[in-house]
Amino acid sequence: MTSSPDKHHESSLGEYSLAVHGGNESAAGGGAIRTPVVMANSYALPDDPSTMSWSGTDAPLYTRNSGLNQLGLQRKLAALEHAEDAVVLASGVAALHAVFFTLLRTGDHVVVSDQSYEAIHKLFAELLPRKYDIQATFVDTSDLDAVRAAIRTETRLVHTEVVANPTTRLADVAALAEIAHASGALLSVDSTFTPPPLARPSTTAPTSSCTPSPSTSTGTGMPWAARSRDRAS
Ligand SMILES: Cc1ncc(COP(=O)(O)O)c(C=O)c1O
Repeated sequence: MTSSPDKHHESSLGEYSLAVHGGNESAAGGGAIRTPVVMANSYALPDDPSTMSWSGTDAPLYTRNSGLNQLGLQRKLAALEHAEDAVVLASGVAALHAVFFTLLRTGDHVVVSDQSYEAIHKLFAELLPRKYDIQATFVDTSDLDAVRAAIRTETRLVHTEVVANPTTRLADVAALAEIAHASGALLSVDSTFTPPPLARPSTTAPTSSCTPSPSTSTGTGMPWAARSRDRAS
């Protein structure tokens, strides 16, 4: 049975309608039917703030943590990604750092695509091994046997770009997820060249965390990290 599109049920919407209506919340009191831009930089505290987290990001408190505009954008991006959640950051490299610094621990090993954005290559080749003893093996992630061979018992993460910049080499995200998860590792995906609806790595590879940072041709980016609905951790 085909159901009619209903903006209150995102799964019933096509791509274009989802881009308009996804993640919207009507403003309390104002009657706006799309999430309005809010110019506040700080927000009212609860009556009893003693148990609240001052560094939390779920409720708006202060713009450094989050704000209504950011939360609204994150809801919309999560809807477009068909993901559980999304986090908007100031740049793609910030989004990638957020994923790596959240997931990786000292002593971990990472399998990284040998065609990765320069800043990410440097992070895994220089900074993370030197400062945090996180070791990386760089492989051609389009060669699944090479990825399998590079995985060690201490491998925590496999990282690839969906379409590598600048070579456009393709990665098979679903197959990489299977390899990573079979050995207890996570998969992170830089989907810069393929924002939704071109690709949705978090649905292709249900337990991965993915990190799209789409840039327009002018270089203006709108970076975010999305978490799939049933990721491993
Ligand atoms: C594949 C890829 N990943 C990450 C980035 C970094 O994004 P940003 O410049 O927003 O930090 C870029 C930037 O061009 C990129 O091409």
